[in-house]
Formats: sequence, structure tokens, C-alpha cells
Amino acid sequence: MNKEIAIVGCGVIGSELAQNIDMNKIPNCSLSIIFDIDKNKLKTVFDKLTNKPAVFSNFKDFMESPQFKKIDLVIEAASITAASLYGIDVLKGGKDMMIMSVGVFSDYDFYREIIHLIKMKSSNVFLPSGAIGGIDLIRSIKNHIDSITLTTTKNNKSLKGAPFFTNFKINVDEILNKQVIFEGNAEDAIKQFPSNVNVSALISLAGIGFKQTVVKIVLDPEVTNNIHEICVKWKFGEFTIKISNRPSPENPKTSYLAILSALECLRSICSPDLKIGS
Ligand SMILES: NC(=O)c1ccc[n+]([C@@H]2O[C@H](COP(=O)([O-])OP(=O)(O)OC[C@H]3O[C@@H](n4cnc5c(N)ncnc54)[C@H](O)[C@@H]3O)[C@@H](O)[C@H]2O)c1
Repeated sequence: MNKEIAIVGCGVIGSELAQNIDMNKIPNCSLSIIFDIDKNKLKTVFDKLTNKPAVFSNFKDFMESPQFKKIDLVIEAASITAASLYGIDVLKGGKDMMIMSVGVFSDYDFYREIIHLIKMKSSNVFLPSGAIGGIDLIRSIKNHIDSITLTTTKNNKSLKGAPFFTNFKINVDEILNKQVIFEGNAEDAIKQFPSNVNVSALISLAGIGFKQTVVKIVLDPEVTNNIHEICVKWKFGEFTIKISNRPSPENPKTSYLAILSALECLRSICSPDLKIGS
């Protein structure tokens, strides 16, 4: 059955998803709505599409539109704030959701409400693996984990704009040598670096939670890639997964892998498929 899709956020991830759906690269779905608070972003994406969706720049109009009633899946690719502001209303509206800004789940009230709504409405919420791999493995062993440490290494440009630098009055451009700039749990890491460590949220949800998951952030002016190293010690062994991703040219905070992961997640939602991995 064809699924009608709404995309919230027309940045790097949202625009790629929109164009792939428009070009029929993902079977069994069509793009019915795009929504962004930035009208320029909306126009840029809209102009590239052959099959024109409805366009909204206001959440109330989006939710009350006749097009919204027919939507099967809302894809959030905007920000933690957007996921937090809209997620609950979208699920209350009986829709499935894909959430890219996974850091939103470090807010326990939001997390609890989403789980409650999933059960009440029999809805699905999909969290793509994003910029990392190994989530299947972490899920399988979650009851036997002793420790998980995520070390994320990025350059000045990729980390620029994070609240951490304003909160601690640090000029990110003045850091010239490789150094660990943050070490703490995933909950605090997401507060300080909301656009940089969505992967720590995914690892926390799959594994041992936000308080137990250790996050180190290394700023290295010399690296060009976004590097995530996940070290897990568990009852029957240990493993390390290291992923080195080239950033997307349009948004250095986002790895190209995150876009491919969202596309693959959408493909598996829309088509009956072999379900591979745990
Ligand atoms: N899960 C992962 O591994 C992973 C990886 C990369 C990015 N992300 C997250 O996915 C999200 C999208 O990433 P991106 O690179 O496409 O970002 P982007 O900055 O390129 O685009 C975000 C878009 O969302 C819009 N937006 C922001 N707030 C909004 C709101 N309240 N309502 C409607 N639109 C709003 C912006 O105007 C912008 O057009 C970000 O939160 C990012 O941190 C997750």
C-alpha cells in the first residue's frame, strides 16, 4: 500500500529524502507535505520537486490541513526543539513517525509520553541508526553490558555553534590543538552538543540509558571526518566500533551516512522486506 509522507525540516536530510521520494527511488510512498519554519528552505526544496507537495511554515496550519489527515508517516529532520514541540501532537494524531533528532529522548518526560502514545495509538516511532552502526549488537546484549563509552572526534567547524562554547565562554576558533573538551554522560553531552551527538542518544536508548553511557568529545583541528568510536565491555566479551564519516558539504555537523540511513529506514518502512539484523 502506498504511504503518504510529510517531512518536517527541509535541511540537508529533509531535502535529500524529499528528492529521493519525488524521483521514485523509494517504492510505495509519495511526498504529500513539506514543513519548515524557514520559507527560503521550503522554496529551495519545493522548486526541485516535480510532484509538488503541500507546503507549510506553521505547525498549526500543518496539523489542521486536509493533507495532514491522509498522512501515514511524519519524518522529523529538523532539530531537538522541533521533535519536542511536535512529536507528541503528531502521535496523538495517530500518525507514525521517524525521528532524526534522537537527542530529544534524553528528556525523560518526553520519552515516557512517547512510549505511552505508541501503546495507546498502536503507532510506530522509527529511529534510524543515523551516523553509526552496531545498534543491533548493542540492543542484543543490553542486559549484559558493563560499560559503554562513545568518543566523538570532530573539527572546529563541525562543533561550532554548540551551546557548550557559550556556556563555558570558550572561543571554538581559538582551539588549535587536539584535546578532549567534554567528558560526561550522554544526558549532559546532548545538552551541551545537541546537534553533534544524536548518536549518543541512540546508543543510550539501545543500551544502558543516558546516565550510564559515557561520552567523550574530542576537538581535533586536523581531522576532516566526523569520527565515532564506540567501546563496549560486556559479560561475554568486549568490542570497539570505529566509524569515520565524511561530513555533508551543506552541513558539516551531519554525516552523509545519516542521510543514507534515513533513506534505508524509509525504504524498509514502505516495503514488505526481509528484516535483517536484530
Ligand atoms: N540520528 C543521527 O545520527 C543524526 C545525524 C545527523 C543529523 N541528525 C539530526 O537531524 C536533524 C536534521 O539534520 P540536518 O543536517 O538536516 O539539519 P539542517 O540544519 O540542515 O536542517 C534542519 C532544517 O529544519 C528546520 N527547522 C529547524 N527547527 C524547526 C522547527 N521548529 N520547525 C520546522 N522546521 C525547523 C530548519 O529551518 C532547517 O531547514 C538535526 O536535529 C540533526 O542534529 C541526526
